[in-house]
Amino acid sequence: VRPGPSSIIIFGASGDLTFRKLIPSIFALFKKELLPKQFYLLGVARTKYTDEEYRNEIKRWLLNENEALNSVLSFIERIFYISGNYDDDSLYKLLQEKLNSLDKMFETQQNHIFYLATPPSVYLEIIRRLGQFELTKENSGGYSRVIIEKPFGSNLETAIELDKELHKYLKESQVYRIDHYLGKETVQNIMMLRFANIVFEPIWNYKYIDNVQITVAETLGIEHRAGYFEQAGLLRDMFQNHMIQLLTLVAMEPPASLEDSSVRDEKTKLLKSIRMYDTYEIDKYFVRGQYVRGTVNGKEVPGYREERNVNPNSYVETFVAGKFLIDNWRWSGVPFYLRAGKRLKKKISEIAIIFKEVPHSIFFKNNVELEQNVLILNIQPDEGFSLKIQAKQPGSKLCLNTLTMDFKYNEFFNFKGPDAYERLLLDAMVGDQTLFVRSDAMELAWKLLTPILNKWEQDKEKGLLFYEAGSWGPKEANELIARDGREWRDLE
Ligand code: BG6
Repeated sequence: VRPGPSSIIIFGASGDLTFRKLIPSIFALFKKELLPKQFYLLGVARTKYTDEEYRNEIKRWLLNENEALNSVLSFIERIFYISGNYDDDSLYKLLQEKLNSLDKMFETQQNHIFYLATPPSVYLEIIRRLGQFELTKENSGGYSRVIIEKPFGSNLETAIELDKELHKYLKESQVYRIDHYLGKETVQNIMMLRFANIVFEPIWNYKYIDNVQITVAETLGIEHRAGYFEQAGLLRDMFQNHMIQLLTLVAMEPPASLEDSSVRDEKTKLLKSIRMYDTYEIDKYFVRGQYVRGTVNGKEVPGYREERNVNPNSYVETFVAGKFLIDNWRWSGVPFYLRAGKRLKKKISEIAIIFKEVPHSIFFKNNVELEQNVLILNIQPDEGFSLKIQAKQPGSKLCLNTLTMDFKYNEFFNFKGPDAYERLLLDAMVGDQTLFVRSDAMELAWKLLTPILNKWEQDKEKGLLFYEAGSWGPKEANELIARDGREWRDLE
């Protein structure tokens, strides 16, 4: 669906996220003619640019990405820019005036999407001012929506505080907490696979599933984000949002419909049934690590403590593995093993559903076990899924082998799917909140992590394990799962 008249106002318009993700995605929508005809983009940031200078920055960026000059030129005609300090009233006065004139010029019917792509420390400030200047009001006919990037708070208390402030000026239906993992093709496909097919759902439970493994492995370190990462650490950076969201989609009950409230209700229900650990149990269920110098993709890289702007004694974690249990009928006794880390051996993200062994094997009597069936949802780099089954190996003897039924989006559809941000921006323009995180789910995710954060804050360096860059994390992560008689899937 092509959305109706819209405008996007990006706070933090001169920042990294804007250039790397937002502009390319909005431009991709423009090229695919998925942006409304009545559309403009207004950048807001502290850096001083004129409209012309900002357009030139964007032009340079897109041309660098090998985009065609013609389309870039017609795209940037819709781009404008204002600068100022986020805590300065005059910025918001200017914003009001600019929106008024641009709304008239582009006939956007006062439909505004404010995208907060700034450092989180100024979220409160911006929201307050938007509220005070009545830019969050919807009674003038147009809509006003706010997209908020993570991290949404830094713990349960600050998240609640931010949420309270938001709700002073905005209804929940105006708030779009973005988690870009929810816009990834494979992640969206989880629901299709589960609920548009009859074959999976009957076995999607403790009777047939032995365990679930979710891995998000990155080869990148922290790049130039030391300031942020030193505050956040991997648990906040990846688990509070992406990892927990993935788990939720795999484990939730079928919603009654695709309506956003229906889907989000099921997610909340599931989040409530994830077991909350006590602080004293954390060491048993979680492993945290930090990378030291090593070789990734054939290149020697420094350790975390040697990275620029990182405290040389930092005890911030760059790797986390954990075991989650879901206390409901469907998942009784089925562990969900989650791991994510920086500077690991390979960039790969997947969800593996590992099924139980057959109850009685008539094959391979000599103590050789049949391999378990595995359904793998590949999130990246190759989006798709595969199913490992046992089948007869051709030949006269009765010999079994593991056969993989493989489906790759790129190969099958012969085109690269949209970037997660494209999809999510489009959803925000049409007012579909299904793939955004609702207030209650956001709080529950923080609640779940609170004992872990507390324990690690208490222990600081004690319990922090070190792993070589280019490995699969600390060996204790293997022990965590080996204690249950299992092992991580081999992702080499
Ligand atoms: C972001 C995290 O949300 O996700 C980053 O802040 C991480 O630290 C990134 O690198 C991973 O996203 P993707 O899409 O590359 O898997």
